[in-house]
Amino acid sequence: MSDDDAAEAAEGEASTDDSSEDSSTSGGTVPVGVKLGSTRTVIALPDSHGTENRIVRTLTCMATYEDALTGEEKVLYGEEAAREYPDRVEYMLRSGLPEDEDRAEMTKKFFEALIEENDIPADSGVVYAIPTIDNPAGLENLKSVIEDSGIGISLMESYPESLCGSIPAFGDDLEAIDEIFISVNMGSTNLEASAYRRGEQLAPFTTGAVTGNEVDRMIANYVEEETQGRVNIDTQTAREYKEEHADFVDFEPFTDIIQQPGGGTHEFTIERSVMDAVDEYLDDTVDELANTFLPELANDYMKVYQLALDRPVVITGGMACIPGIVEEFERRLSEELNRDIEATAADQPDVAPTVGAQRIAARLVENS
Ligand SMILES: Nc1ncnc2c1ncn2[C@@H]1O[C@H](COP(=O)(O)OP(=O)(O)OP(=O)(O)O)[C@@H](O)[C@H]1O
Ligand SMILES: [Mg+2]
Repeated sequence: MSDDDAAEAAEGEASTDDSSEDSSTSGGTVPVGVKLGSTRTVIALPDSHGTENRIVRTLTCMATYEDALTGEEKVLYGEEAAREYPDRVEYMLRSGLPEDEDRAEMTKKFFEALIEENDIPADSGVVYAIPTIDNPAGLENLKSVIEDSGIGISLMESYPESLCGSIPAFGDDLEAIDEIFISVNMGSTNLEASAYRRGEQLAPFTTGAVTGNEVDRMIANYVEEETQGRVNIDTQTAREYKEEHADFVDFEPFTDIIQQPGGGTHEFTIERSVMDAVDEYLDDTVDELANTFLPELANDYMKVYQLALDRPVVITGGMACIPGIVEEFERRLSEELNRDIEATAADQPDVAPTVGAQRIAARLVENS
């Protein structure tokens, strides 16, 4: 990934500043990776030189408005929609998948607008990183979004998000597909863990109880407590605090300012709220793994369990971006299991599922 792409991914802007509109490599089928996530949607494809990935990353939300001149319905998505239409912006995948037909329709509009604005080529082979969730209706709706999209004419496949997210953690190619390991995906609406044996998903476990969204709610509550009820923040602001300040290595207290309803401002400092919340999150994650997922894996696949725990556990997903979380996860899981556990993560765990999906797409396109 180029520095530009990295900076852009870090900024979370909806657009890309790649100077070239042409993302095809040699005029052939373009391999594309896509993750339609509940918080963010990420697309990866080769840049105009075909050497580096171009990353498109945007909030998964949209608002529609009527064109003032033509009366036509216009679609606005991502950060722009969230900023300009806070009153009616829709997060269609808030629960992780399109829950009903209306949300599926909205997701289609969102995805079409995103594809068009970023010139994702129709002649492409697309691999989707899909969450492992036991919700057949939601998965069916997601499938219809994927199948009705204008991209992936040559090839359309889906692979589990936690497998895709592990690929960049193992190396520059598809090494992960030949390995036996455990992957933990730390998302906004779900915690997912699976074992993989040469790409085969075993003993998948998911819970909606330990999530990035829950951390945001905790932060909002703790901020109220920490400021003796003087400061109320919404979960969007809580998420921003978490993404900017959570740090297991060297967290620094930070200040913010709110407007008082009667005029004037109030400045406050946050010392504990963010880290208390992510600390509990990590404890709960380790608890779910040690006491539910791993016993089930051991029960169903004892040999895989033994082999996998001798290797690094891969953590992926947005919550894995918190600095120092890999080491802290290692320490706490080792303590809980009473044996040495190693952990690892890709450089950018939040975009890793998309990057992994893109690599699979490249291989499938090459083979076809
Ligand atoms: N740099 C960061 N620091 C801390 N948290 C982060 C960071 N980046 C993203 N997150 C958090 O990670 C979560 C999003 O993770 P991810 O993108 O993997 O989720 P998702 O795939 O959309 O959700 P899910 O699969 O659970 O539906 C959010 O709670 C977000 O606030
Ligand atoms: Mg996810």
